[in-house]
Amino acid sequence: MSHSKLLTPVGNAQLAFKNRVFMAPMTRGRSKDRIADELTATYYAQRASAGLIFSEGTQISAQAIGWTNTPGIHTSEQVAGWKKVTQAVHEAGGLIFAQLWHTGRASHPDFHNGELPVAPSAVPFNSQAFTDEGIKPSVVPRALTLDEIQATLADYETAARAAKAAGFDGVEVHGANGYLPAQFLEDGSNKRTDAYGGTIEKRARFLLEATDAAIKVFGPERVSVRLSPRIPYNDMGDSTLEQTYMFVVEALEKKKVGILHFMEPPALPEGLKLLAPEARKRFTGLFVVNVGYDQKTAEQALESGLADAVTFGSLFISNPDLPERFKVGAPLAPADQSTYYSGSEQGYIDYPALSAQM
Ligand SMILES: Cc1cc2nc3c(=O)[nH]c(=O)nc-3n(C[C@H](O)[C@H](O)[C@H](O)COP(=O)(O)O)c2cc1C
Repeated sequence: MSHSKLLTPVGNAQLAFKNRVFMAPMTRGRSKDRIADELTATYYAQRASAGLIFSEGTQISAQAIGWTNTPGIHTSEQVAGWKKVTQAVHEAGGLIFAQLWHTGRASHPDFHNGELPVAPSAVPFNSQAFTDEGIKPSVVPRALTLDEIQATLADYETAARAAKAAGFDGVEVHGANGYLPAQFLEDGSNKRTDAYGGTIEKRARFLLEATDAAIKVFGPERVSVRLSPRIPYNDMGDSTLEQTYMFVVEALEKKKVGILHFMEPPALPEGLKLLAPEARKRFTGLFVVNVGYDQKTAEQALESGLADAVTFGSLFISNPDLPERFKVGAPLAPADQSTYYSGSEQGYIDYPALSAQM
């Protein structure tokens, strides 16, 4: 390609990214004891040519767990495990943020000795959980008390401190895909009538206070917030979607958050308004887009000024050297979906780089 903006550097006062080809956060279900290990380190180091790697969703507490074999960031053993990963990525010249994850109602009693998962409100919903015994239907969660909400917010801060101790370059608050912060934000899942429910401002409070916790530890430039207004995954919905999300974007702008990681495909079905351009107008930090982008649509998003960088998910699973492949116009390997969460080395660290194939 004659000129590629994707391959040019970008950054802020704290961080310099070598390119705009970022790796999206992806759960891989390879942490049997919930601790990242050498295998995890190999996988991420193989992908260190990304401008920035977002780690897989990493639970902030035992209560936050909601998926089989996912790693956490709330015990000293987990910090030691992640240290191996961040060191390997840094030695390979990369940068990596930890994605701070609380699954809330999307969890399952199997992860909590039979106790119910927690949520803003005890609302029935239609989804599934990936348990140790396979996929199971979601259950009606129980509502968090106000004291428990404060304790959960404290867990975000503790997890951010643990991420710093583990050598991460920053953290991403997972506010997308129908997990706890999104459950608070959207009115389909939040029926509270106290300080954390009701008006948009009150529903946004949990997400914004979790973001404050991350900022307290890392400073605003090293914090990313991920949002997915257009993704109904986990049976999400909000009656004033655009207004709700634009309130959040404006609040994140006031906090001078470093990265807004906005999930919305480059095009939507007819009749649906794209919200990414609206968010972009309101946010002066690094605006990163994701979902369904390829090299061409990503270049267009950068050239048009829609975004500063693009994250790639499935393409990074099967093309560990994705920026190099974009640079030389090499063919892209397809990802094998059957090994996304299969738990073994196969489909994880065995996708070759171009150089290994020559
Ligand atoms: C195997 C797999 C695991 C994922 N896990 C996460 C996750 O832990 N956190 C998250 O925010 N998104 C997760 N996602 C969504 C991706 O970050 C990304 O949004 C999605 O793959 C769309 O981007 P793409 O079209 O470039 O693949 C996952 C996606 C895949 C394919």
